[in-house]
Amino acid sequence: MTTHTPRVFSGIKPSGGLTLGNYLGAIKRFVDMQGQGFETIYCVVDLHAITVWQDPKELKDATREVAAGFLASGIDPTQSILFNQSQVSAHAELGWLFNCVARMGWMNRMTQFKDKAGKNAEKVSLGLYAYPSLMAADILLYHATHVPVGEDQKQHVELTRDIAAKFNHDFKAEGFFPMPEPIIDGPATRVMNLRDGSKKMSKSGESDMERINMTDDADTIAKKFKKARTDPDALPDTLEGLKGRPEARNLVDIYAALSEATPEAVIAEYAGAGWGRFKPALADLAVEKLAPISTEMARLMGDKAEIDRILGEGADRADAIAQPILDQAYDITGLLRSR
Ligand code: AMP
Ligand code: TRP
Repeated sequence: MTTHTPRVFSGIKPSGGLTLGNYLGAIKRFVDMQGQGFETIYCVVDLHAITVWQDPKELKDATREVAAGFLASGIDPTQSILFNQSQVSAHAELGWLFNCVARMGWMNRMTQFKDKAGKNAEKVSLGLYAYPSLMAADILLYHATHVPVGEDQKQHVELTRDIAAKFNHDFKAEGFFPMPEPIIDGPATRVMNLRDGSKKMSKSGESDMERINMTDDADTIAKKFKKARTDPDALPDTLEGLKGRPEARNLVDIYAALSEATPEAVIAEYAGAGWGRFKPALADLAVEKLAPISTEMARLMGDKAEIDRILGEGADRADAIAQPILDQAYDITGLLRSR
């Protein structure tokens, strides 16, 4: 029943600064999908951020900084809708309807919750547990069909499909919510921690040395790559030769994603090179790509009123799509609306 142009929806949490993982796994790909025949909707998901404690004094600026990251990377607010989630109340409202559709058993299988809650499961917020249901609402509120995300979000998009199917089925509204596709492609859908190739690079890891932040300066980027953990071997001449070498594979994948080449092409170029040659080349490439973005982010952060204006305008446009879909969902659910 979705007759509109294919619609892309994706989001990033304003919790801590943006990393190279966010850039390569998400933002860069969001930019690439602009103007490709999709309607593109990108969201700073502040309601998701508060599932863990966020200092209220810092959250607004963190929200603006993620927006600045989007803009500086090439999201054009005239081509895409860019807004922050809490300004469109329909997200929370549809999220509630979905809390009544999603099953406990489904939520219990979410590996990200298990990882984040760990031994602390009794102490984390109820919101952290319900989070994937709110994420389903984010996507389905726009009848979005394509969801570009990093590998770690695949399970949540699959849950979104389950929620859509159960809603459509239970309320005899076949086809009301479309089945969104996760788009997980390119060499950097899972950028790993620079100190431990078995862990994802994340905003919240203990040591700053394990990640590249989008706002790191050139010296810091060079230092972090220089100190990145690797093995003693030189680069092989085929990708096969990187099997069982997760740290080496990660650096090759980062190089590939930054240079818009395939990992095979990178290996062909650097076959036999030692780290003393590859790491500085990688650092130079990362600086070349990230420095203009961080400079632009800093400039944008100097005019917060302008960021707020862009987010507000985006929220108006998002609301215009979301509200009629929410109204239909309320009606399908049988909730009385008389004003
Ligand atoms: P988050 O920062 O958790 O809100 O993530 C926002 C987006 O960035 C999601 O699509 C994630 O899958 C993606 N992302 C986060 N960290 C990484 C990473 N290390 N590698 C690839 N994608 C990532
Ligand atoms: N859960 C995602 C993350 O942690 C962020 C997110 C929230 C999202 N809502 C979304 C991503 C909707 C894609 C679509 O990375």
